Amino acid sequence: MLDEGSQPWWKLATVYQVYPRSFYDADGDGIGDLRGIRSRLGYLAWLGVDAIWISPFYRSPMADFGYDISDHTDVDPLFGTPDDFGELLAEAHKSGIHVLLDWVPNHTSDRHPWFLESRESRTSSKRDWYIWRDRSPEGGPPNDWISAFPRAGSAWTWDPHTEQYYLHSFLPQQPDLNWANPEVVNAMHATLRFWLDRGVDGFRIDAIPELAKDSLPRSGRGPAELRPANWPSVHDLLRGIRKVVDEYPARVIVGEVTILDQRHVVTYVNSRDGLHLVHNFSLLHQPWDARRFRHVVDEFERLLATDAWPCWLLNNHDNARAASRYGNGIRGARRARLAALVLLTLRGTPFLYQGEELGLENVPVPREATVDVNGRDPQRSPMPWAPPSRAGPGAGFTSGHRPWLPLTDRAEEVNAATQADDPSSILHLYRRILTARKRHPALRLGGYEAVETDEAVFGYLRRHGDERLLVLSNFSDREVRPLPTATARTRPARCSLLLSTGTRQTPGKVDLMALRLEPEEGVLLQLSP
Ligand code: NOJ
Repeated sequence: MLDEGSQPWWKLATVYQVYPRSFYDADGDGIGDLRGIRSRLGYLAWLGVDAIWISPFYRSPMADFGYDISDHTDVDPLFGTPDDFGELLAEAHKSGIHVLLDWVPNHTSDRHPWFLESRESRTSSKRDWYIWRDRSPEGGPPNDWISAFPRAGSAWTWDPHTEQYYLHSFLPQQPDLNWANPEVVNAMHATLRFWLDRGVDGFRIDAIPELAKDSLPRSGRGPAELRPANWPSVHDLLRGIRKVVDEYPARVIVGEVTILDQRHVVTYVNSRDGLHLVHNFSLLHQPWDARRFRHVVDEFERLLATDAWPCWLLNNHDNARAASRYGNGIRGARRARLAALVLLTLRGTPFLYQGEELGLENVPVPREATVDVNGRDPQRSPMPWAPPSRAGPGAGFTSGHRPWLPLTDRAEEVNAATQADDPSSILHLYRRILTARKRHPALRLGGYEAVETDEAVFGYLRRHGDERLLVLSNFSDREVRPLPTATARTRPARCSLLLSTGTRQTPGKVDLMALRLEPEEGVLLQLSP
């Protein structure tokens, strides 16, 4: 049995992703900022999260909204100043909230001084800091690799000045660093130390499988992907990164691994010298089907090393929001509530994405207002904090009249203030489940055991010492008896409902034999012998 006191904080935590442009605009320019995040720490503490991961706020030309960094150790004036960050960090820590930064090691901006120097001449001392190649004998790019962003096409861009191509796994404005060069390794490690010395609690690492390029074949991609990714030496690079982070106590690294084959995903966490946590996107890509969800979780649990730790997410700034993905209208709303129960009761560290707790949907952006190259504007729409009828058209996100992306036209109901006043809101449901996580060690540390259920239901037991919690989630749109009679009979007589995502069942004693779940209802039950 895991002993709570000896566990690192991040195993017990719930992490909340802040996309700074869209969180809270303190200076009225229509774009969120660091002072805005600081002003909402009270809300995050009230909600019950233990840590925030802040997407990049470093100096950047913003071709990829901050994922193109031109100075790793400075704050972009759009978001504030280094002092604003210091104050945010200190105040977050005072509120018991850990802070993770987004570290982007695979590439820099094409305006980063390193790249400017690299592209100056073929003999520049920084030439080899990036990946430069001659044209192929046929006259085109060195190989057929493509960018992760379909609209960017080839992963190679021709530089007419020095007459070579450079590699970019993402936009041409994001040239890939050459991690085979020890000078690059040292320089990037120094950027980690810079922020660790300032007291940040860890990093979300961007695009980790892309980091290594063991060879540049004329044709064919990295071992597990359609793109240059997941070459074996990425694990050596990761070991070096982990070593730096381990120089500091109680820090964590969580890596973005967009590979969908979970056999590859676990390699990033199964050795003790890689990532602490991995963002595994397999669950996020499942259709709304209890069997599919169960399959992904069972498989991941089976593949994971005994001392490795799971981590789950259903939303982030790159993917369509769950509240839209699973359907819309009343059914979508019920599903979003059920998804919250599943995410927050699985074994492992859950990551939430701002707005998820409000059931925020994708916000359509008209073509002329589109700003992202890869169609991700709808999930980046600003947080609605208060009803427009009270707070004006900026819905409490901004006092200016033009937020950088349109707000939801449902902001009158879908906003934090209105939902905080309504105990039946999805916001309160998230808060109730997060409170249950804090109250019940079985939810934080207990094992995961799938249980036999009706096929429309995803059910599992979380057990820690004497405590046994049963989660039953009905993914279907019909009422179901979740447990087969035989299973229900072997369960103890004393069973109480701690919470339901539906509206009918209230906490208290229940009879497992008689238990029925409403369409798309999930329940958290406590079993006693
Ligand atoms: C993953 C990030 O989450 C995404 O927003 C970004 O565009 C790419 N990596 C490139 O940094």
